Amino acid sequence: MTIRIAPSLLSADFSRLAGEVRDVQAAGADLIHLDIMDGCFVPNLTFGPPLVASLAPHCEIPLDAHLMVVDPDALLPALAAAGVARIAVHAEACTHLHRTLSAIRSHGISPGVAINPATPLVFALEAVPWVDFILVMSVNPGFGGQELIEESVSRIERLRAAARAPGLDITVDGGVTCMVAPSLVAAGATTLVAGSAIFGAHDRGRAIAELRESVRQGEDA
Ligand code: DX5
Ligand code: ZN
Repeated sequence: MTIRIAPSLLSADFSRLAGEVRDVQAAGADLIHLDIMDGCFVPNLTFGPPLVASLAPHCEIPLDAHLMVVDPDALLPALAAAGVARIAVHAEACTHLHRTLSAIRSHGISPGVAINPATPLVFALEAVPWVDFILVMSVNPGFGGQELIEESVSRIERLRAAARAPGLDITVDGGVTCMVAPSLVAAGATTLVAGSAIFGAHDRGRAIAELRESVRQGEDA
């Protein structure tokens, strides 16, 4: 099983983002995870499409946008123009989820549905026919460096079993470290978002390699 590692720029040094992108790319990242927050859906503000567009020329690997905003539809055209490969929208934020996911697909972007830790799994399961991935929040969204909520492992396990979609990517986001990665992957996660575990490490290459190695050892065990 190939597991993808997506460093979250939320924990990068914001004064030198292009360099941070190049650093984790050289370190073996598979995707660059972009946490777009509006200060309303979550109690934090980050950046929007103009910054994504200015980073895109520095990225050779796919850009993975995670929209923690109350009005994701408003951002889609500009994110499409910036060249993102994937967009996850929160089920809790979308009144017309099918419409929003279809709009993402119509821009040629891979759509995903994100759910908060206390959101019933059925919110994501209903959307399986319309998405390429489900993003399972394993912390309450808004901030990096939080501890994984332990029930996330069984949520992923139940989601994987209920989705009945072998090609579906399940991305887990929040509190991912070498300690928890093996159980997340055993439960059915296929993409690991990690912010502080990678950007907080002095040697990002080593941090990514250790995450991959922890998962491999978990599979052999
Ligand atoms: C939280 C974000 C995450 C966050 C993960 O709202 O969606 O992507 O950056 O950071 P860590 O890995 O530090 O929990
Ligand atoms: Zn995220």
